[in-house]
Amino acid sequence: MAEVVGGVFASHVPAIGGAIARGLQQDPYWSPFFAGFDAVRAWLGRARPDVAVVFYNDHGLNFFLDKLPTFAVGAAAEYGNADEGWGLPVSKPFAGDPALSWHLIEALVADEFDITTCQSMLIDHALTIPMQLCWPDVAEWPVRIVPIAINTVQHPLPSPARCLALGRAVGRALARWPGDERIVVFGTGGLSHQLEGPRAGFINSDFDRRCMDALANEPDLLTRHSSLDIVELAGSQGVEILNWIAARGALGAATHEICRNYHIPISNTAAASMVLEAGLARAA
Ligand code: DHB
Ligand code: FE
Repeated sequence: MAEVVGGVFASHVPAIGGAIARGLQQDPYWSPFFAGFDAVRAWLGRARPDVAVVFYNDHGLNFFLDKLPTFAVGAAAEYGNADEGWGLPVSKPFAGDPALSWHLIEALVADEFDITTCQSMLIDHALTIPMQLCWPDVAEWPVRIVPIAINTVQHPLPSPARCLALGRAVGRALARWPGDERIVVFGTGGLSHQLEGPRAGFINSDFDRRCMDALANEPDLLTRHSSLDIVELAGSQGVEILNWIAARGALGAATHEICRNYHIPISNTAAASMVLEAGLARAA
């Protein structure tokens, strides 16, 4: 049977892609952020995933305000990236896993999630940057992907409770997948940030740390908030934590923390990374 090995949680600020392109990983501004990925990559080396199910949000590349699905699941054989005007180099495309995508789509619809199914889908920095942080300098991506886009852009947004439930439904479906793949789940974006308006630059480190603790130990605590509460607490783009909440849901009840890093700021964002391995910690 397929095994969900764990989850990688990471910010996706476009400037990170610019820093990678310019080789600034050791620069004093960047190194406290990039250093957090040494432990992430070490864990991925041990976990050896074949497939990544990625909860992220599209920023206008694939969906715009005229049509914005609350939850969209990719079912393509390949996912192209395109430069969005941030000056980022275009990333090599990812292979999809249409059979696993359709299994998840069938399971989610049976579970009464009214998702949008995307047989062609572009991916933006929210997916490519975490992948570049995890697997720098690879000629071929080592994982096939199933992208799951959550609307964190246009209100009304789904609630934290709904995103946790979505993730849990994905987790149950993955547990029933008869393949022998090792599956890693990603949640990208956040943590607190607001890019526009009078609160531009807003960061709430207390809330971010409480979110990371809750994701590691008691994710249901986060369902006490509405998405509008999170806008107030974490900024209008801080709601990207919804992607982390969904990813945590897919990991099942028991997880243990492998690593975390939290650094303020990268661009306008409180930038973080974390790995939660699925299941209880093995005795040393
Ligand atoms: C920034 C953060 C984001 O999540 C994003 O999608 C774009 C920009 C930033 O902090 O610059
Ligand atoms: Fe974003």
